[in-house]
Amino acid sequence: MEQIDDYICRYKNYNFVLTVGASAEHIDSLETFHVRDSDIFVVTYPKSGTVWTQQIVILICELDGGLNDYPNNMEQMPWLEYPEGRPGYSLRPSPRLFNSHLSPALMPPELKEKKGKIIYVMRNPKDTVVSFYHFSQICAELENPKTFGDTLERYLEGNVLAGCWFDHIRVWNAARDQYNILFLTYEEMVLDLRAAVIKICSFLGKNLSEAAIKEVVHKSSFKTMKEDRKANYRFAPKERLSGDFLRKGKIGDWKNVFTVAQSERFDQIFQEQMADMDLKFIWDSAEQKEEP
Ligand code: A3P
Repeated sequence: MEQIDDYICRYKNYNFVLTVGASAEHIDSLETFHVRDSDIFVVTYPKSGTVWTQQIVILICELDGGLNDYPNNMEQMPWLEYPEGRPGYSLRPSPRLFNSHLSPALMPPELKEKKGKIIYVMRNPKDTVVSFYHFSQICAELENPKTFGDTLERYLEGNVLAGCWFDHIRVWNAARDQYNILFLTYEEMVLDLRAAVIKICSFLGKNLSEAAIKEVVHKSSFKTMKEDRKANYRFAPKERLSGDFLRKGKIGDWKNVFTVAQSERFDQIFQEQMADMDLKFIWDSAEQKEEP
């Protein structure tokens, strides 16, 4: 692992959080990680709705026939890349659930045999950088930024956790045919959570009753999750996370933070980087209704 600064280290062209204990040995061990058909991976670029999707998948699996008992969502669906002293993942009973921000090159190769399922969630990068900026202020493992401008620069250079947003989206999109994968956007989840839950159920092959779907939607709404100790990560020690994990949960909060010049520059880079992508991004037209 090459230490980049006090917060980030790089290994195999990917940026890890230094203090959370990613090790070269563990990352190398993922090359021989045996994927089970029942494994589910939620993969995202940071601040794209990971914890939200984690909550939805956990609820769906619980209502579908139960999950093993773990004290909180982090233990129920741990980070693939940060085992943080947990006993070997091969010892975990099925179904195993994992979060990850890794790029395809570092994921267990057996996933390409279409074992296991991946849910990949994307979000407007302008909103992810704003969310990251605020999160960096409450998360001890990330550098506390001086200004939003500083965060934006680092972000555009790819000198942040998980590297550059553009690369993440590009490589995952390019690799999508190799995996059992569902692509979702944060924006479609905000605009129609029920439809997103049904999409996830169908991808996972879970046939939930109408009442169960209603329960998943209710328990994964922003309002309910914000008040839920487990879902809002209030179990995390204060010295690691000094505020609520759930912040605003809005589409387009970037408009409150970006200057016009920053936005224009970002748009230009976006056009250059994404011009040849065949992905449709819905966030420009996405309008959010206020939660009742
Ligand atoms: P904001 O900072 O814009 O509010 P991640 O889990 O990938 O780190 O993403 C965090 C972002 O997802 C935060 O965005 C957080 O508020 C948002 N989020 C989490 N749960 C949500 C929910 N139920 N509804 C909408 N947004 C949610």
